[in-house]
Amino acid sequence: PAATRRLSLITPSGRLTLGNLLGALGPMAAGQDDAECFYGISDLHALTTPRSPAELRAAVTEQATLLLAAGLDRSTLFVQSDVPAHAALSYLLECVATTGELGRMIQFKEKSRRQGSVRASLFTYPVLMAADILLYRPQEVPVGDDQRQHVELTRDLALRFNAAYGEVFTVPEITVPPVGARVMDLADPTRKMSKSGADAGVIGLLDPPDVVRRKVARAVTDGDSGPDAVRADRAGKPGVTNLLEILEACDGSADGLASYGGLKAAVTDAVVATLEPLQRRCADLAADPGHVAEVYRRGAARCREVTEPVLDAARAAIGL
Ligand code: ADP
Ligand code: NA
Repeated sequence: PAATRRLSLITPSGRLTLGNLLGALGPMAAGQDDAECFYGISDLHALTTPRSPAELRAAVTEQATLLLAAGLDRSTLFVQSDVPAHAALSYLLECVATTGELGRMIQFKEKSRRQGSVRASLFTYPVLMAADILLYRPQEVPVGDDQRQHVELTRDLALRFNAAYGEVFTVPEITVPPVGARVMDLADPTRKMSKSGADAGVIGLLDPPDVVRRKVARAVTDGDSGPDAVRADRAGKPGVTNLLEILEACDGSADGLASYGGLKAAVTDAVVATLEPLQRRCADLAADPGHVAEVYRRGAARCREVTEPVLDAARAAIGL
């Protein structure tokens, strides 16, 4: 195996967006030859909030196809629930985690505040995430600010387990990920474009050209109209800045653009050109579901090979 391992999980909590592509899948595809990469679809994490079985299955299938279509064909692709060690190790780690520290997780506090009935799995979500990470013994875990507290918990749990039961886990370093584009919602450019956002502000990876055109045409800008209206200014002109950043991330050029109409036409063309090859590969793969299933079957087999010795060591150490 390669010297370094890289691991990233994406939750099938909705349809993948242009933000996911430019901020995550693109950089993941570009970096897959300098480490052994494991990219997972975290269906167990998706169950922390209610969704119908059909909706979950459709999201997993679509995401599985899109990860391959995005060019992650030289990585180990897997679905979390196909690798039993994730849930099994999570339980062992729940036996070293405390309710006090889980209750201090900012994401839990924010998400649970918005829900009437909160699933216990939302509370223990960071422990399953710790298991996701520790099973692969990665030396480094690149994370954005929103996940930093969870990876610090992962380090704490690994250190505590090792101190109590023996050196089972590698304690990963937290690293800052390479800066990908941060894409904002088209209808509210002060919020990040998200799988769970309202449709009008979100460009889906499978949106056809006319839908992309309509959403970009309705993107929020501002009332400026002078010769220098088309310019980046994140605080003062968040909508225009977002469009310029999308344009650049999609390899378009803003040279000579003097109006918002011209900017939106250029953004539409650049986004459509970026999505077209992905959508074509996705259609080809959707016509060959046996191939997609085989890729994920092989991926899960590789993950079981990597994770089972770690789970076995943890079980033995804790006295099972
Ligand atoms: P979402 O918010 O769409 O549900 P996740 O939180 O599951 O996305 O993140 C999946 C990956 O996509 C992460 O690596 C995250 O940093 C990246 N990502 C998500 N939204 C954006 C965005 N709007 N711009 C850039 N990267 C994003
Ligand atoms: Na999210």
